[in-house]
Amino acid sequence: MNINTRMKPIQILLGLFLLLTTSAIAQPDGKKLFKTNCAACHYASEKKLVGPGLKGVEQRWPDRAKLYAWIRNSQEFLKTGDAYAVKLFNDYNKSVMSAFPDLKDEEIDAILAYANNPDDGKAVAASAAGAAAGDVAAPAEPNDQNAIIIVLAFITVLLIILGFVLRSISKSLEALLNEKKGIVVIEGEPLPFKYQFAQWINDNKALVAIFIIVVSIGSLKFVYDGLMNVGVYQGYAPEQPIKFSHKIHAGQNGIACVYCHVGVEKSKHAVIPSANICMNCHKAVQEGPTYGREEIAKIYAALDYNPETQTYGNNPKPIKWIKIHNLPDHVYFNHAQHVKAGGVECTTCHGEIKEMEVVQQHSPLTMGWCINCHRETPVKYEENGYYKEFHARLNEELKSKYMKDGKVTVSEIGGLECAKCHY
Ligand code: HEC
Ligand code: HEC
Ligand code: HEC
Ligand code: HEC
Ligand code: HEC
Ligand code: HEC
Repeated sequence: MNINTRMKPIQILLGLFLLLTTSAIAQPDGKKLFKTNCAACHYASEKKLVGPGLKGVEQRWPDRAKLYAWIRNSQEFLKTGDAYAVKLFNDYNKSVMSAFPDLKDEEIDAILAYANNPDDGKAVAASAAGAAAGDVAAPAEPNDQNAIIIVLAFITVLLIILGFVLRSISKSLEALLNEKKGIVVIEGEPLPFKYQFAQWINDNKALVAIFIIVVSIGSLKFVYDGLMNVGVYQGYAPEQPIKFSHKIHAGQNGIACVYCHVGVEKSKHAVIPSANICMNCHKAVQEGPTYGREEIAKIYAALDYNPETQTYGNNPKPIKWIKIHNLPDHVYFNHAQHVKAGGVECTTCHGEIKEMEVVQQHSPLTMGWCINCHRETPVKYEENGYYKEFHARLNEELKSKYMKDGKVTVSEIGGLECAKCHY
């Protein structure tokens, strides 16, 4: 039998599947483009972040070609000596905007449309793109290039695998059916199962194909969702080797955070307490309200401590706490600076730890998150010894520049400079 003719309905289905998935992800999505490319430095409003708010930016750039050129590579564009751009660059202390050479015109239109109207990005994106194209043809629908490439790559791999699988199924079916022809069928006696199964598949090829496709789409979506969330772990709450409860310790028993996290006011790291600190209390407290002796015994095991004889053995091993908050290696973050100098509460960044049985990551820990806070939070001069000194030394010109609004924000003392946070 000819495999090609046999696979026809399957091929049609696969084609449909491809069409459906690709058109489903090719919606205009200025919001997503904005979030992935621009949101680290721009708000979709008139407010400043690292760069100016992008709402209404088109009015400042009457020549759209120049605007495209700026967004694709602002440093290159500055070389043209364009007066507005040069002034803007200087006004923003020569902060360098990232280059986006791969953004298409329609994609930029969609981003700006979203920035102008963040609540209704999609509809406006379509009409703005239409306007830019002179309303001649339906605009190509912009999207996140990378996402599409990833998905297409997966679909291709999937189709190749599927092709092989179907081919081998088809081959073995053929073999089985041929074999069956040679078997003497006894009246009333059922056929062996494998022949029945082969016959069934042969009779229900479309059904089998649909089943395989549904399973494939499911796994594809799973992989895709996973990829889109790489790097953001908000809500991450792994199970720890000992069921340590902040609710019992910091909440009900009111133990100060710094009693255990001894580094938090004087160093970069807050520090996870060693088992010896636990023993300050758990030499005496040998039973807990929820788990009895079981969980506390793990502290003893780690220290090779015998609560009966109250002696330590010589085989201690560290408790392997799983780190919940993780910044990438290229970022510098210092607890003392925030907690001691900045006077920021633990809860602002970590949430209500006192209420948590199991600690979970409360904030996204993205660059936009750090920067937002630096823009909005005033430096605490009054409470802070260093800044009385700093303030006294500010000359009048700088004072009037920074103190216009009556406060100095972290951004105004350099909290937006790349090198402050990046090695
Ligand atoms: C790393 C930070 C950063 C990123 C990411 C970034 N920008 Fe910018 N952008 C800036 C800064 C800073 C300025 C101000 C001018 C300067 O210093 O270069 C600016 C200026 C602009 C301007 C001119 C604003 C005006 O008021 O005239 C536009 C338009 C713009 N950006 C668009 C975008 C778009 C669209 C994206 C995303 C595709 C983006 N930017 C991503 C930092 C960034
Ligand atoms: C009795 C000691 C103790 C006290 C008091 C305590 N902690 Fe902890 N903390 C721990 C231990 C042990 C861990 C590691 C296990 C875990 O994640 O639950 C931890 C983990 C954490 C983590 C997650 C660290 C990571 O892995 O990223 C944060 C955030 C935290 N504590 C904040 C606080 C805050 C805020 C307070 C005060 C409200 C506090 N802790 C009080 C012992 C303590
Ligand atoms: C300052 C005193 C103190 C320190 C330090 C301390 N604990 Fe506790 N811990 C307590 C008290 C009090 C209880 C609750 C006893 C009760 O309510 O019956 C408790 C209960 C527990 C329980 C039992 C929970 C349950 O519900 O059964 C565990 C497990 C535990 N602690 C682990 C730790 C670990 C691990 C450390 C060190 C990182 C630590 N504790 C440090 C005072 C402390
Ligand atoms: C400005 C935000 C901010 C504040 C305020 C803050 N933290 Fe953190 N915390 C972080 C970030 C970001 C990390 C991840 C650091 C890393 O991966 O290097 C972290 C990590 C931790 C860790 C685990 C890793 C370590 O550094 O040892 C503990 C424990 C912790 N914080 C406790 C606290 C306590 C207790 C307080 C209050 C006294 C506090 N934090 C205040 C942002 C903050
Ligand atoms: C909740 C608000 C808040 C968040 C979130 C925050 N910061 Fe800060 N940050 C501050 C404050 C307030 C100061 C000023 C401290 C001072 O007075 O020296 C500061 C200062 C700094 C400084 C020193 C700046 C300078 O000019 O000396 C660095 C570096 C820094 N933060 C890094 C980070 C990083 C990295 C993150 C994100 C992982 C982050 N911050 C998140 C509030 C915040
Ligand atoms: C207040 C702290 C802070 C400042 C200032 C800052 N960054 Fe970041 N940056 C971060 C943090 C935190 C991350 C990690 C974000 C993550 O893991 O999602 C990051 C990540 C990045 C990345 C990796 C890509 C990504 O999105 O994860 C690049 C590139 C980057 N920053 C460039 C810059 C440039 C250029 C500047 C100066 C205009 C700058 N950063 C200023 C905190 C900062």
